[in-house]
Amino acid sequence: MGTFSSKVVIVTGGALGIGGATSLEFAREGAHVVVADVNVAAGQAILAKIDDTGNRGRFVEADVSKAANCERVVKEAVATFGGVDVLFNNVGIQPPASYANVEGTSEEMWDRILDVNLKSYFLMSKYAIPELRRRGGGVIVNTASVQGLQSMKGVPAYAASKGGVLSLTRQMALDYADDNIRVLAVCPGTIDTEMVRASAAMEGGDVEATLRRYGRSHPLGRIGTGQDIANVVLFLASDKASFMTGEYVCVDGGYMALGAWAGGAGAKD
Ligand SMILES: NC(=O)c1ccc[n+]([C@@H]2O[C@H](COP(=O)([O-])OP(=O)(O)OC[C@H]3O[C@@H](n4cnc5c(N)ncnc54)[C@H](O)[C@@H]3O)[C@@H](O)[C@H]2O)c1
Repeated sequence: MGTFSSKVVIVTGGALGIGGATSLEFAREGAHVVVADVNVAAGQAILAKIDDTGNRGRFVEADVSKAANCERVVKEAVATFGGVDVLFNNVGIQPPASYANVEGTSEEMWDRILDVNLKSYFLMSKYAIPELRRRGGGVIVNTASVQGLQSMKGVPAYAASKGGVLSLTRQMALDYADDNIRVLAVCPGTIDTEMVRASAAMEGGDVEATLRRYGRSHPLGRIGTGQDIANVVLFLASDKASFMTGEYVCVDGGYMALGAWAGGAGAKD
């Protein structure tokens, strides 16, 4: 038994990082979790952990930037568990090789980042919404980023994808409110995942020291964990958030509250 007992939840990019932590938390709260991911080894590992909670999950190997794969993920969720109640569009990439300004960004890199980070959210929603409607309603939670609200140098495609996720979230919330489908977004600050560790490694030097430095720029003095995001995603997907739609929530240790003029977060190491 749990908050999501007998619910069916799809998590894209659900094998590792934020997606992995959230897949597991949904399972702990009683859901059947369908993990869609390109990483087969990590997908099987998270499935084993999901099974350990006593709730059956399913791993579907799928590159969700492609329509046929998104349709297949939803079909497999329905065939295995009878429907879909929650879609967590979480997948995202920020390859170390993508750090460049607009002139230095290839068309291929732009397309890949937009296809994975934004188009997959459209595609997964397109195929999941009829199933949510069939259940009398449901919830879509999208992973945006504080980088959808403010920006930094060298990330044009990533920034555009995250701004797009926030805009798509607001828009879909309006189209599907009559169907009792709520659409929300979460904006993580820096979270300790494979993605962030790859960026930290690019700087050279000790990765742990770099992560501690990233932490000092957040007023709470640390970077976040996948669990920090999972807790908020589960709240948004639950009936406790039943009057929320078209909104985003920053889970960022106070990062967005800090003005550039404020002279640093002032957090201790
Ligand atoms: N980590 C952070 O600091 C941070 C901050 C803000 C937003 N985010 C966002 O959170 C989300 C998750 O990021 P993360 O840090 O956990 O990343 P991660 O790289 O640790 O994990 C991403 C997962 O997505 C999978 N994946 C990649 N491409 C895929 C594809 N085409 N189809 C299916 N699966 C695919 C990977 O195999 C992996 O399991 C992303 O949308 C990211 O932009 C992360």
